[in-house]
Amino acid sequence: MLVCIILLVWLLLVWMYFLWSRRRYYKAAWQLRGPIGWPFIGMGLQMMTPETFLQYMDGLSRKFKAPFISWMGTNCILYVNDPSTVEQIFNSTHCTNKGDIYRFMSSAIGDGLFTSSSPRWHKHRRLINPAFGRQILSNFLPIFNAEAEVFLQKLDLEGVQHGKQLEIYQILKKIVLEAACQTTMGKKMNFQHDRSTAIFEAYSGLTEVCVKRMLSPWLYPEFIYRRSRLFSQQQKVVGELFGFIEQLLEPIVSVVSSHASATDQNLNDSRSKSKSIFIEQVREHVERGQLSWQDVRDEANVTIAATFETTSTALYFAILCLAMHPCYQEKLYEELVRELPSIESVSPDQLQRLEYTEMVINEAMRLFSPVPMVLRSADQDIEILRDDGEFLIPQGTQIGIDIYNMQRDERVWGPLAKTYNPEAHFGPDCPPQHAFAFVPFTKGLRMCIGYRYAQMLMKLLLARIFRSYRVSTEARLEDLLVKGNISLKLKNYPLCRVERR
Ligand code: HEM
Repeated sequence: MLVCIILLVWLLLVWMYFLWSRRRYYKAAWQLRGPIGWPFIGMGLQMMTPETFLQYMDGLSRKFKAPFISWMGTNCILYVNDPSTVEQIFNSTHCTNKGDIYRFMSSAIGDGLFTSSSPRWHKHRRLINPAFGRQILSNFLPIFNAEAEVFLQKLDLEGVQHGKQLEIYQILKKIVLEAACQTTMGKKMNFQHDRSTAIFEAYSGLTEVCVKRMLSPWLYPEFIYRRSRLFSQQQKVVGELFGFIEQLLEPIVSVVSSHASATDQNLNDSRSKSKSIFIEQVREHVERGQLSWQDVRDEANVTIAATFETTSTALYFAILCLAMHPCYQEKLYEELVRELPSIESVSPDQLQRLEYTEMVINEAMRLFSPVPMVLRSADQDIEILRDDGEFLIPQGTQIGIDIYNMQRDERVWGPLAKTYNPEAHFGPDCPPQHAFAFVPFTKGLRMCIGYRYAQMLMKLLLARIFRSYRVSTEARLEDLLVKGNISLKLKNYPLCRVERR
């Protein structure tokens, strides 16, 4: 009996200490009131379904005044979905570290740029930045044009000659991964001709596993997770991906240098340019002792995943939106006929002039943000300004920035926010927007390292497709069901029909 009483008192004291040590979070939660959820799991149960997660968060943001505080497991989460608070977070030097639950991603695929924290992130970002600079990117155009050609041949053969309705997303993923392997690792993989479905399944399996764990607070403790079915699933996909990355890291013959020399004939120049691709640069850093080979594996893994998942998603949504809106497709075609007299390849100058092409891509990324939500962690106390006052957000608070819902919110974008309408939102006559209302690549120090790469590849592929083909679908915008994953997914991918122009 006495032992029981002592145990109970001890538990009570531990519980009181736990609450007392977290009093600053409770104060913030009291001031920025949001949904509380259940003890220990917070909103875990309500949020655990990726199919409805984004819609659920939108509902909460209308019920509670955002930014508000909620709970995920025992983590205090600040939910943000308005441009003014987004600006404060992205511009704060105390919010550059990723949310704590990104550690589930790094424990699966290694601690690359996407997930790492300072000082590791700072050092690696400085070393890797030059591999995605403006100068180097222009060397990739011949590869992008060659991959566009492969894509068009596939559309023509299957879509036009065989008259099939196409799953464009599946074809795009292969093209973008092929381009990513060549431009970052210098390796040609021939995914279109190879049986490579295992790699694509592994990539989508990996993000699903990570998101399921993020949304299931009871799987946060390592000793529970390692006994779960999800962990066995993770081991399987990670094994596949590690094998793939090792294959990419084997001694390489740079395809960038061969493409470049074919076009500009200047051997010395092309050799120095080929040195600049990601793998060559990181190899030099390894030789100088600035990075280890394990760092290189982690960064390669993350760079390939970040390039291919997001860019193929963004491109797919742009094509689908145009297929659903023939009027904008015709306007795009007019620009392409005007600016691209030859349908063979696109030059850097021509790319720059494709303003309407850029608008249709941006409008698709506004409506379907390829990375729907990013998470940060406050590494010091920060003050945030809401219209009803200034609030202290304690160090250690997790911050969820809901890009997806902000970019389609009528309170931010007006009455047409949920429609696809490039002119209304990016046209020369549209009303001025807050600088942080459209942030598909985010902004600030932690902004996507590959945004110029992605813009160039997307513009080129889109221009090449719509210059030669008309794409249509029976799907309607309002019927699409999105899933909140690390990159945005659809529950079902509508088929598209293509015709030659
Ligand atoms: C449409 C295509 C893309 C979109 C929408 C996109 C979006 C994003 C977003 C939202 C982040 C997180 C930034 C943050 O937390 O503030 C990110 C980070 C990152 N992206 Fe992209 N991305 C795209 C393409 C690419 C490409 C092509 C590459 C590589 C060439 C790339 C490499 C990375 C890397 C390495 C990071 C981590 C950067 C860091 O934390 O320092 N991304 N991207």
